[in-house]
Amino acid sequence: MNGAAAAEDLFSGVTAPRSLPPNDLTHRLALRVVMLPRDTNQYGTIFGGVILSSIDQAGFVEARRHGVHRWVTVAMDKVAFKEPVHLGDTVSFFTRTLRTGTSSVTVEVDVQAERYTSGETVPVTSAILTLVAVDASGKPIPFKSPPTA
Ligand SMILES: CC(C)(COP(=O)(O)OP(=O)(O)OC[C@H]1O[C@@H](n2cnc3c(N)ncnc32)[C@H](O)[C@@H]1OP(=O)(O)O)[C@@H](O)C(=O)NCCC(=O)NCCS
Repeated sequence: MNGAAAAEDLFSGVTAPRSLPPNDLTHRLALRVVMLPRDTNQYGTIFGGVILSSIDQAGFVEARRHGVHRWVTVAMDKVAFKEPVHLGDTVSFFTRTLRTGTSSVTVEVDVQAERYTSGETVPVTSAILTLVAVDASGKPIPFKSPPTA
């Protein structure tokens, strides 16, 4: 792979178009975060809430690909953690859109950790979120409307 192709491959999905086809099931990288000491509990593993916060942000990134608006999270499905996340791990959040409505989109977020010590990648969890496009007063608006924020 030449340099340009490698760079394109590395960033494929990061610069996704603003307007996604409704049934596009491709997972895209939305967020990648290195776990720091501030993210740990007293056992040296990462607080679940830190991952939940990033899941929420990744859902927002995916939602904004559908329309440049304020987006709020209205629902998050059950989240089950399969593996712990450790200090120094690089955690990636991949997203895809499962459903589009009028003001809402439902997004799946898949979370993977790349171990700091071994480089091995392990699946951590996945979540399903629904986000709603809202106006400045917090009222739902069709997300296909022209940019509002
Ligand atoms: C999101 C919010 C604006 C929706 O208001 P609402 O009065 O329920 O609006 P509506 O009934 O018109 O529903 C709007 C959309 O949300 C969807 N929706 C509402 N409640 C939902 C739920 N519990 N789960 C999934 N989707 C839901 C509706 O299906 C609808 O989708 P559509 O337009 O694509 O058909 C409102 O509930 C809200 O402000 N919630 C707080 C959001 C927030 O602050 N999140 C961060 C918390 S810290």
